[in-house]
Amino acid sequence: IIVPSVQEMVEKNLITTVPPRYLRSDLDKAEIDSDLRTEIPIIDMNLLCSSTSMDSEIDKLDFACKEWEVQDFFNLPMEEKRKLRQRPGEIEGFGQAFVVSEEQKLDWGDMFLLTMQPVHLRKPHLLPKLPPPFRDALEKYSAEVKSIAKILLAKMARALKIKPDEMEYLFGDDLGQKLRMNYYPPCPEPDQVYGLTPHSDATGLTILLQVNEVEGLQIKKNGKWVSVKPLPNAFVVNIGDMLEMITNGTYKSIEHRGVVNSEKERLSMATFHNTGTGKEIGSLRSLVKRQKGACFRTVTPEEYFKGLASRELDGKAFLDVWRI
Ligand code: SIN
Ligand code: FE2
Repeated sequence: IIVPSVQEMVEKNLITTVPPRYLRSDLDKAEIDSDLRTEIPIIDMNLLCSSTSMDSEIDKLDFACKEWEVQDFFNLPMEEKRKLRQRPGEIEGFGQAFVVSEEQKLDWGDMFLLTMQPVHLRKPHLLPKLPPPFRDALEKYSAEVKSIAKILLAKMARALKIKPDEMEYLFGDDLGQKLRMNYYPPCPEPDQVYGLTPHSDATGLTILLQVNEVEGLQIKKNGKWVSVKPLPNAFVVNIGDMLEMITNGTYKSIEHRGVVNSEKERLSMATFHNTGTGKEIGSLRSLVKRQKGACFRTVTPEEYFKGLASRELDGKAFLDVWRI
């Protein structure tokens, strides 16, 4: 369902009140916990991958992140962005994701989503149509973030005491990767809207960059909302529903939301990693054996993503669909 660009609305109309479709009567009023924010674990990738050969990778990543600003995309003229609009029935493109009815409340933000990996699943009307410097930077970014995701997943396999091949089979070189850029304009009534409705990511592993270091991401921990303060030179790493299924519930996906403020625009870029094409999504056999039973059904990627496309964002509800 095609929805207006919030950025355009804000820039053109000098908005002083929020249109009703963005005002939420369903705001989650759980307390904000300001003590917990310091407890979010920070992992030093250099220590995590202490072999020196990794240093060059990290430098490359640093370059890819700095060279290209997500801001440039949202600064493109609206006619240019319109050409990249979501097409009917497709989630990829410029617009808003997970809008499934005309009555549904909308989020205070615009996004641009595209498949980066595997290369043959890229949409010909998206990445190839971006200005070449953007495209090249995105390609570099995609490759570097993919290698970080693979390292993190391999380290998780070790932490879970499972055979590395089990994880490598699911998230090998053929893994799926989608990239999503988010733009949240300032909002005159920030407490009445969501930048992004509470949800857990349906994917395996999400690597998020809080691009312009404006606060706005909150995670739900022990029933309270905790702000994830942007740190320089750091990614936020999220476990998604798919990884919770694969680890048979050992690693839990995290519910999170985006909030906005009245002064500053906020930019973020999420990179979602999924299992390789055609690989069934379900609990790893060794974990099922160890834990004496599977907590989730095993499903085909088609079934999984079809289920996802037909739903609004709704906390961790999507995971419950697959629970046994
Ligand atoms: C996301 O949940 O995909 C992104 C949230 C954010 O903008 O920080
Ligand atoms: Fe998310």
